[in-house]
Amino acid sequence: MAKNIQAIRGMHDILPDQSGRWLFLEAHIMEVLARYGYQEIRTPIAEMTELFRRSIGDVTDIVEKEMYTFEDRNGDSLTLRPEGTAGCVRAGIQNGLFHNQIQRLWYRGPMFRHERPQKGRYRQFYQMGVEAFGLEGPDIDLEMVAITRRFWQALGLEGLQLQINTLGTAEERVLYRERLVAYLSDHRKMLDEESERRLQTNPLRILDSKNPQMRELIEQAPTLMEYLNRASKSHFELLCAGLESLGIEYIVNPRLVRGLDYYTRTVFEWVTDQLGAQGTVCAGGRYDGLVEQLGGRATPAVGFAIGLERLVLLLEQQPELPAVSAPDAYLVMVGEAPQAAGITLAEGLRDRLPALRLLCHCGGGSFKSQFKKADRSGARYALILGEEELSRGVIGVKSLRDDSAQQEVAIAALAEHLRTRL
Ligand code: HAM
Repeated sequence: MAKNIQAIRGMHDILPDQSGRWLFLEAHIMEVLARYGYQEIRTPIAEMTELFRRSIGDVTDIVEKEMYTFEDRNGDSLTLRPEGTAGCVRAGIQNGLFHNQIQRLWYRGPMFRHERPQKGRYRQFYQMGVEAFGLEGPDIDLEMVAITRRFWQALGLEGLQLQINTLGTAEERVLYRERLVAYLSDHRKMLDEESERRLQTNPLRILDSKNPQMRELIEQAPTLMEYLNRASKSHFELLCAGLESLGIEYIVNPRLVRGLDYYTRTVFEWVTDQLGAQGTVCAGGRYDGLVEQLGGRATPAVGFAIGLERLVLLLEQQPELPAVSAPDAYLVMVGEAPQAAGITLAEGLRDRLPALRLLCHCGGGSFKSQFKKADRSGARYALILGEEELSRGVIGVKSLRDDSAQQEVAIAALAEHLRTRL
């Protein structure tokens, strides 16, 4: 027998018994975004490799080690998107969305990173991302956080912690970088191999190291906060004041540096301790330099993305799981005439009851086997149509979720009957 072909490592199927949760999440998130006036943008799954090199940064883990890059038949270097911000910015510049305009956008879709797979970390994963362009004040940063809080409320998720930090402007970071490199160079013996390499290429990322032997060194490192000018400080303070006035709890984490190079000023993450090592469910920040860096007119911007697999995992740990959508009714039809009449009856019911979820049995079979399938479908009611019922113009309605007796209802009155029972 031929060997079965398996899915690619780190890439998963979302099976029908899980997709209900995904729909639940996405529907609530989309509903919240509509309430804040955000519009969807859909961009291609593949982009020119250059786009990610120039935005995410050449010396980041993503670009150095994790991208799915390939040459297409024309010899162009393409990459499956590892994230959504770069594509949004590219699309906005290309289509003139940023000229004297404010854009509030969202997107969802698969992203690809060749990371080591583990719980909560995959090679294909889904993000829902939100980006706002053309607004430079801390008020839009605050709106971003307020939106995320409303997501958690709408989804009934608890126990998420908000961490925020500021990374200053590009100029402030140059000064800070010099100071940080000097400090780390003074303690070079304590750096691990990875950090030694990063010292020249991307020293800020050393602050993000998980190596416990470097914890003390990192804790005592100078912080960027000390190098901020008045405007950056005030931006951060206004954001903090806004969070307080909205009653959003947060902690300032000066070691929060993010793994992508485009950030400026505000960065934030929502983290949980319920998912083990992959505890960040949502992350983002401001990236005021990116539009210009990619060839557009200077445009301030801020955004974030949620990792949907992580949110699904978190949802599954909540004490009260949202109900998975089961059909309301399952139509059992035994015999040739009932089968023909049943399909017409079902279409009539769907016309009259737009909210009804009705599964029609297909493929014939005995009453017993059809009834078993009705039960397994999770439906609340079985509707039973046999030769004898049909000849009398009635149908059996049997509750599948309790022991109440089967009722007989006139076919002509069935829609009304179901309307009152559902
Ligand atoms: P990111 O921090 O790289 O940021 O990813 C955002 C979220 O995507 C993470 O917090 C996590 O929940 C999820 N995620 C990332 N990698 C994986 C993975 N391998 N498996 C499962 N989930 C993952 C960005 O992507 C930025 N584009 C966010 C942003 C938007 N910043 C501004 N605007």
